[in-house]
Amino acid sequence: MEETPVTITSPSTAVGPLAASTLVHAGQTGGQWWRDAVIYQVYPRSFADADGDGVGDLRGITSRLDHLAALGVDAVWLSPFYRSPQHDAGYDVADYRQVDPLFGTLEDFDELLATAHGLGIRVIVDLVPNHTSSEHVWFQEALAAGPGSPERARYLFRDGRGEHGELEPNNWRSIFGGNAWTRVTEADGTPGQWYLHLFDSTQPDLDWTNPEVHAEFEQVLRFWLDRGVDGFRVDVAHGMVKADGLPDWDGSVAMVDGSVDGTDPGAPEDGSTGAGNSGPAFDQDGVHEIYRAWHRVLAEYDGDRALVAEAWVEPLSRLARYVRPDEMHQAFNFSFLTTAWKAGPLRTVLAGSLAANDAVGAPTTWVLSNHDVVRHASRLGLGVDGERPNGLFATDPQPDEATGLRRARAATLLMLGLPGSAYLYQGEELGLPDHTALPDEVRQDPAFFRTAGTEAGRDGCRIPLPWQSDAPGFGFGPTGATWLPQPESYGRYAADVQTGVPGSTLETYRAALAARRAHRLGSGTLAWLDAYADADDVVAYRNGDVVVIANLSNRPVVVPRSAEVLVASGDLVRGLNDETSVPTDTTVWLRA
Ligand code: GLC
Repeated sequence: MEETPVTITSPSTAVGPLAASTLVHAGQTGGQWWRDAVIYQVYPRSFADADGDGVGDLRGITSRLDHLAALGVDAVWLSPFYRSPQHDAGYDVADYRQVDPLFGTLEDFDELLATAHGLGIRVIVDLVPNHTSSEHVWFQEALAAGPGSPERARYLFRDGRGEHGELEPNNWRSIFGGNAWTRVTEADGTPGQWYLHLFDSTQPDLDWTNPEVHAEFEQVLRFWLDRGVDGFRVDVAHGMVKADGLPDWDGSVAMVDGSVDGTDPGAPEDGSTGAGNSGPAFDQDGVHEIYRAWHRVLAEYDGDRALVAEAWVEPLSRLARYVRPDEMHQAFNFSFLTTAWKAGPLRTVLAGSLAANDAVGAPTTWVLSNHDVVRHASRLGLGVDGERPNGLFATDPQPDEATGLRRARAATLLMLGLPGSAYLYQGEELGLPDHTALPDEVRQDPAFFRTAGTEAGRDGCRIPLPWQSDAPGFGFGPTGATWLPQPESYGRYAADVQTGVPGSTLETYRAALAARRAHRLGSGTLAWLDAYADADDVVAYRNGDVVVIANLSNRPVVVPRSAEVLVASGDLVRGLNDETSVPTDTTVWLRA
């Protein structure tokens, strides 16, 4: 049963019910595009398939760039499309300067880039510097060359412990499960050294104390900068440098999606959620030297090229170190992504994030979904506060689809009203849920295999996109083939059935991005609305002339009549006295 509405009756002026006197964040200047950009993540294998083999490709992406232009994003980030045996969906790179034939050719890339630029969309590519594929020529040379060679010194080869070297060199765990070392067989057939892999055994870690590694990656940066890319998303940016001597670590390990394997270290009070990696393999001071050097490389090029850190680091003040003025430009805010749908924790993480980044003069980089986590339309429908499983099995409690979608749309509007930059993950503009009932036989994520099937892994958020509700494969490609099966429900979410339909998720995203641009929210300010500054179940803030109210309570929030509704994440309710109210799990943007 609904409780009494919270009514705001007085007129909407800055001193009235929409007054916001606690300034949390003053606007930033700087002028670089990335400070307030909305950047759309394309996961190439699942975006659009031009050649009909069931796997998305570069030409498929190019053919759908008009969708992104119509959505109103500023840039795309492309997950890896480089030559790779695809043991971790391309995050195992065998050649950093070649396009994998699965995705096309370098010419296809150039055409994609030119078409995007022609539409005013910038392009960021993924750089995977923590590890290569085991099929990379360097690793093949290291295996052949043997212990003590310069070829092995590009990676982290060590002798084993124990009388015969039969024990791992230390006790580190892989982020995908299992231990982080694999023993090689030497050329003479004897059991040999071990190599470190923080991820799959086909992803050997590079040794970033080796100058040759630095030199090679600077050349890779230049290769893509010369082709015209606008920046790089840096994979595992907090992992490249390891503590001297590779000491044992008995702390917890945050899994690839930020869930915790081991004892949860608990959350600091700045809004962190315990999703950061710590210990001797992560967030070592030495990584910052690398980013200072890369910053200088990018600065040689025109156009404010940018580096964005994928760094699962907490507390937020440690994450902010990656975006100091002479380092990277953005760092994904995973503390925000992993915050429960609760007003208090949300306010804490918003304020904590802005304060931490203000201290170094950097914008905040908000994100709710990506290719490593359960999509927010499913995560927020799980009904368990803050739960973030590493994928879902059909036998797990299933998310409530309607609640998840409603909350996801509300969370998105809460995010897009904020100052700073924001990343969207392909398909979230359609309101897509995960496939939460994939048969195990089709799973491909190494995390599923390395945990011996105890974790479902990330395949559920990587399902090929639905473009057309009545076409085979929902229009993903010309043949209907899809590398992972799509759930039936995807027909309802297809882009064509949402286009032009007022109130659809797609049209809501478009309206929000247009309003965000028109009201310059990305470079704006944040002040809590006085009326809700301590509310248990409402998050409300002002950003310039826009007031954002997210109602997480089970009663409607009435808004002043004089306020103009710019965008709402769901239907608003007209009351008996003609007042407008915001229902449960709904966010509204008002001009007031
Ligand atoms: C990052 C990527 C993830 C990949 C891992 C190893 O976390 O986002 O998809 O599996 O790095 O490269």
